[in-house]
Amino acid sequence: MLLLFAKIQISESGEFMKNLFLASFLIVGDLSYADQNPPSAVTISIDYTAKDYSHLLGMRGFANSLLKMHFELYQGYVKNINTLLDKLRNWPLQNKDSNYEYSALKRRVGWEFDGMRLHELYFENLGGTGKITDQNTSFYNQISKDFGSFEKWKQDFITTGLSRGIGWVILYYDSGHGRFINTWIEEHDLGHLAGCTPVLVMDVWEHAYITQYGLDRAKYIDAFFDNINWPVILNRYDKASKPLAS
Ligand SMILES: [Fe+2]
Repeated sequence: MLLLFAKIQISESGEFMKNLFLASFLIVGDLSYADQNPPSAVTISIDYTAKDYSHLLGMRGFANSLLKMHFELYQGYVKNINTLLDKLRNWPLQNKDSNYEYSALKRRVGWEFDGMRLHELYFENLGGTGKITDQNTSFYNQISKDFGSFEKWKQDFITTGLSRGIGWVILYYDSGHGRFINTWIEEHDLGHLAGCTPVLVMDVWEHAYITQYGLDRAKYIDAFFDNINWPVILNRYDKASKPLAS
């Protein structure tokens, strides 16, 4: 029908009958094709796919064995969130009410999903020179304003990362208020700031450093800063700080 409508629209110069005939022919052709070859169902995967971060191998201050183990661990989260979401999606409808097992699995979604996504944000903000060369940017000015100076922000981020426990440090940007907040995330899923954008993400679970640095987390954090990919950070901030289209 859409095809017929389109043909009639362009038939103003006496071509109406010719176009109508052609359109009818095409529609009939389509129907007969459908009769003979019913379209088969197309299955589109909605699973997450693990990303490849092997370009980070060779990064100074990060042993390849440590990175390879970390990639493998990340791939486990991708596999687990796919399994979990698939299980929940196919859960029998009649068994959902008052089902403790269903509720327990639901509670795992944030943990597995954040375990996947935070690793992606972490690996993607590594692989750089660690140097923020341009100090005349909106990002630099904003972070200096919010923390007193860039160095003060960095010290606060590091201090947050030295907190006892396992988790993440995230520099969040609150676009609703226009300010940065350094945030401690417990494990993967506790402490996130709703509606804010993660701009810089640092993994401080023990697996991220202990095989190379032992208990010296501060040394690992130094290595992390030496490899920050600042253009990625600036890009995340630029996107988050853009005014929303009306
Ligand atoms: Fe990790």
